[in-house]
Amino acid sequence: MEFSIKTLSPETAKTGCVVLGVYGGNESPKELTPPARRVDQRSRGALRAALADLSGKTGSTLLLRGVPQVAAERVLLVGLGAKKEFGEAAYRDAVRAAANALRDLGAKDAALFLADLKVNSRPLGWNLRQAVLGTREALYRFDQLRQKKSPAPSLERVTLPLPPAAQLTQALAEAQATADGADLARTLGNLPSNICTPTYLAEQAKKLAQQFKLQLEVLERKDMEKLGMGAFLAVTSASHQPPKLIVLRYNGAGKSVKPLALVGKGITFDTGGISLKPAGEMDEMKFDMSGAGSVLGALRALAGMKAPVNVVGIIPACENMPGGHAVKPGDIVTTLSGQTVEILNTDAEGRLILCDALTYAERYKPDVVVDIATLTGACVIALGHIATGLFANDQKLADEIREAADDAWDRVWQMPLWEDYQEQLRSNFADMANIGGRPGGSITAASFLARFARKLRWAHLDIAGTAWRTGREKGSTGRPVPLLVRFALRHAGRK
Ligand code: BES
Ligand code: MN
Ligand code: ZN
Repeated sequence: MEFSIKTLSPETAKTGCVVLGVYGGNESPKELTPPARRVDQRSRGALRAALADLSGKTGSTLLLRGVPQVAAERVLLVGLGAKKEFGEAAYRDAVRAAANALRDLGAKDAALFLADLKVNSRPLGWNLRQAVLGTREALYRFDQLRQKKSPAPSLERVTLPLPPAAQLTQALAEAQATADGADLARTLGNLPSNICTPTYLAEQAKKLAQQFKLQLEVLERKDMEKLGMGAFLAVTSASHQPPKLIVLRYNGAGKSVKPLALVGKGITFDTGGISLKPAGEMDEMKFDMSGAGSVLGALRALAGMKAPVNVVGIIPACENMPGGHAVKPGDIVTTLSGQTVEILNTDAEGRLILCDALTYAERYKPDVVVDIATLTGACVIALGHIATGLFANDQKLADEIREAADDAWDRVWQMPLWEDYQEQLRSNFADMANIGGRPGGSITAASFLARFARKLRWAHLDIAGTAWRTGREKGSTGRPVPLLVRFALRHAGRK
């Protein structure tokens, strides 16, 4: 699908559908947005006459055909909710509702007159990015594994009626590349573990490397053995799928610019191992490679838009399985850093593959390292499905990530990483245990990783609650690709 920026008037735009916003809902009077008012005047009150059929609540829609004196075939009215409560969330809901309606009605092209709404103090570039990402998300389909595919969406062109400006053109390119990256992360997440194996992830990295001229290196089991990645190897020990450590580099900035390292948890299926998970909803553990998917998605986005950044993506990928060769509770392994770990629970495997990957990241002399992981169920309990958990050993980095997340509206909430929590990781037999008990479970997991990031400016994103939706809407969200892309760009000095 194509997006373009063009100065347009809503009454004369020759398009399949003009999308217009209407404030209203919950006892507040309905109010037409300026472009809706223009169409209403031109059509001698056709919109106002129809308003009784629109609730005005955020995301409500009403489709009109043959509005007099209007060039477009259809007019789609979209409720924005009460004007005084209108903000980022309502804007996003309105865009999604519009995109869903456009998809269902079968229009080929549309003009989205929501693009220039005032959303608190956000610049137009923000609206534009959200409009593109929201529309692309609404049109995303995953049906490659069905015999019966849903028909291809008819919507081919969306015009964003905004003034021509170099900044907006750049925001548009960024948003489209970010949507491509988020789509990739979503699809990798949605693919089942019998298809999306560590080998498959390495193949996807190779495809990206070929398409975007990235540097790729894939370490095999024997390489990990030589290096001494005892923690990573412990997790993969019972799996029949060969583990991979994928290193994918994009260099869009000068040679002297230290890279941003993105480290993504790539457990393609997490059974829990010998500390086996209960059967209910275990299928969702195919999403346990979402961190890896988001790293590949972010690299795709940044390379696709030719961003002036250097990024190295590091993905430890394997399965966590029970079996005769499996690591067992109480086993002690030596990590790449030399520190030893008593594995008291084999289901706390994410930190075991990440700790070796973090140590490995040191060799790229990164400016900063951000790891992304579906690490703990405890994070879902703490923050639900709205905010990603943020931890960092550097407050300036944490602030930067939080601001980027707010900008991308792919939000995070910072959690403490105080030394006081380290005590919970005490082991009677090794340098540390891999679990810290139930209290503060996502914090002790992050505290474990912190022991392997002492030489790094490092942040950790726990995306267990935000990477996928459960229930009827089960599926990958593509988060936090928008955040990672925004952060990489802002960190490189682009606003
Ligand atoms: N992949 C899971 C975390 C997870 C659980 C994400 C549920 C999303 C939903 C991780 O490997 C895990 O199993 N963590 C354990 C850690 C515990 C054993 C200390 C958990 O959260 O229960
Ligand atoms: Mn686990
Ligand atoms: Zn896991």
